[in-house]
Amino acid sequence: MKDFKELFFETGLIPVIKIESVNMADGLADALLAGGLSVAEITFRTKAAPQVIEKIASSHKNIVVGAGTVTTKEEVNAALASGAQFIVSPGFNPSICEYCIGKDIPVFPGVNNPSLVEQALSMGLNVLKFFPAEVSGGVKALNALKSVYQQVSFIPTGGIQENNIREYMSLNNVLACGGSWIVAPELIEAGKFDEIERLVKSARRTMMGFLPVVDGNKFSGPAPTNSSGWGSEGGSIEVQTPSLKRTIAMLAPLGASIIPGSETVKGKTMVGASVVIPGVKSIIHLVE
Ligand code: 3PG
Repeated sequence: MKDFKELFFETGLIPVIKIESVNMADGLADALLAGGLSVAEITFRTKAAPQVIEKIASSHKNIVVGAGTVTTKEEVNAALASGAQFIVSPGFNPSICEYCIGKDIPVFPGVNNPSLVEQALSMGLNVLKFFPAEVSGGVKALNALKSVYQQVSFIPTGGIQENNIREYMSLNNVLACGGSWIVAPELIEAGKFDEIERLVKSARRTMMGFLPVVDGNKFSGPAPTNSSGWGSEGGSIEVQTPSLKRTIAMLAPLGASIIPGSETVKGKTMVGASVVIPGVKSIIHLVE
């Protein structure tokens, strides 16, 4: 089975999609991929959902398609029959969770308080949607949950947009954020796929959350020297990011690699590293 924890972490953003017509499925899927996303949650809020899942699952095999807003066993069955690879539900419904576990399909139920987290944990579920995120306390609530449920990873969804996603991304118990703003139903219906691609790219840039570090004090790793060949032409730049590990994963498709020995580690966590990207002359010192 796919490692969803890793997939969601590296994607960082799960588009929550409400789509009325299967005719728009391919255009939407192309836009997501062009923007850098390879995960899609198609919600059962429209009749077209199963057809759209089937369409994207067959035409875009490099996208992992899941079903969202699943609240009945019939919908689980329809999702499975259409080729959905995971199930998301807004709330924690033990019978739906058990049903999914019995069918061997990953399920990510919604929770927003400790009692629900514990019920989910008792079923062996430790990757949970946190919904509705903003009105349930948002970043503060997730921070509070972090100290007691260190084994749980959350996917906050509900009220997250580009203006607040960076705060969520800096929490180490946040696997990814879910959101509909990048795939607004009116944009899909109007076939405005360029705009969807632009929104996705912009969100991903914000998620990496680069901030220039001007004083240079934050980077304490061994500075790569010119004699090693790195940075001989372009010097180096230092930037801060809310999640170093995710940013490195997001830069991987560009061929980014960490310069061996440049990592700075605090406890067990890597908090700094120097990265080179083919075609980019400067070394990038990333600090968390
Ligand atoms: C969901 O189903 O996960 C939410 O409706 C998405 O919330 P948002 O529209 O605020 O992103």
